[in-house]
Amino acid sequence: MGYRVAVVGATGNVGREMMTILEELNFPVDEIHAIASRKSKGVEVSFGDRTLKCQDLEQFDFSTVDVVLMSAGGTVSKEWSEKIGKAGPIVIDNSSVFRMDKDVPLIVPEVNPDAVKDIRKNIVANPNCSTAQLVVALKPLHDAAKIKRVVVSTYQSVSGAGKEGMDELWNQTKAIYGLGDAKPKKFPKQIAFNVIPFIGAFNEDGYTDEEAKMWNEVHKMMDPEIKLTVTCVRVPVFVGHSEAVTVEFDRPISVDEARAILREAPGVLVVDKHEHDGYITPVDAAGEHAVYVSRIRKDHTVENGLSFWVVSDNLRKGAALNAVQIAQLLDETGTLKSSSGFRSITV
Ligand SMILES: NC(=O)c1ccc[n+]([C@@H]2O[C@H](COP(=O)([O-])OP(=O)(O)OC[C@H]3O[C@@H](n4cnc5c(N)ncnc54)[C@H](OP(=O)(O)O)[C@@H]3O)[C@@H](O)[C@H]2O)c1
Repeated sequence: MGYRVAVVGATGNVGREMMTILEELNFPVDEIHAIASRKSKGVEVSFGDRTLKCQDLEQFDFSTVDVVLMSAGGTVSKEWSEKIGKAGPIVIDNSSVFRMDKDVPLIVPEVNPDAVKDIRKNIVANPNCSTAQLVVALKPLHDAAKIKRVVVSTYQSVSGAGKEGMDELWNQTKAIYGLGDAKPKKFPKQIAFNVIPFIGAFNEDGYTDEEAKMWNEVHKMMDPEIKLTVTCVRVPVFVGHSEAVTVEFDRPISVDEARAILREAPGVLVVDKHEHDGYITPVDAAGEHAVYVSRIRKDHTVENGLSFWVVSDNLRKGAALNAVQIAQLLDETGTLKSSSGFRSITV
């Protein structure tokens, strides 16, 4: 028996990937509803070989579904996710609104699947795209040799800023070649042929909220003792986030040992040879499920340090794939009640 599923934000970058991945992973779907804003009512989206017509969020009766994949931005999640959870289904929320809520588990299935036991608001949070791929690579290493400190610089693609982000890179690139209008709208500065060392909003300490999300979420999912310093950078890449990561451990760990650990780790693919086919770029990772780790090498500046390169498809592992994997985890653990109408909540 399958589930009645709703995808909110079905016309968006992440929502469309969610539909594709539900199919790819053979998630047991009995019924599926594509939901977006009123302006998209009737717009067609694909689910396998079927075409679905989008429904208006405000008019949809959420008590008729078992699970909701929510990916319509923070404002929509703030207004709707708790209401939807109270109506019965479990909401897998892609926004940052509930990630640090102590009554909402934040889950990457390869990292902290047991957190699924503690759902109190019928909401499970999906992490930030850069955090998701980072923790998949860090967790197996942390299990082998405790991580003390992490230094991360991200190279984040424009699809992390939604459809408008992708359109801006495309239009600016054409405008600069064609002498058209290249004025920034979605991003604070020109993104075509440039990099922007700023994502989100400034916090008082000079970091951005995107940077703070990464250490807060690593602390919640892995270990609050790990120290992190982060620089998030937007780059003119359509899909695929990259990260240059340096890790300090509490014991020596050789490059070969790290490579062997990561080769066995769920969700990780090690591509690490000293040749041009021996490392992964975002173009290679786009459309794939794995978190790729390349360029593993010793950090000669500290006693027990390693540096490496982590790349993944931000719309997949960073968002839609992880959300569907959470749905699978809910299914496998018997947490998701199939077509049962109402699952009572304990808040
Ligand atoms: N992109 C990533 O790498 C990534 C990673 C992790 C998490 N996320 C999160 O995922 C969410 C969506 O991201 P995205 O990249 O898919 O954005 P997007 O491409 O801009 O799509 C936004 C979606 O939300 C819908 N929406 C907007 N306002 C709505 C409203 N008032 N009522 C109903 N639907 C509404 C849009 O529908 P219309 O077409 O009808 O406007 C569209 O389907 C965000 O919360 C984002 O932070 C994204």
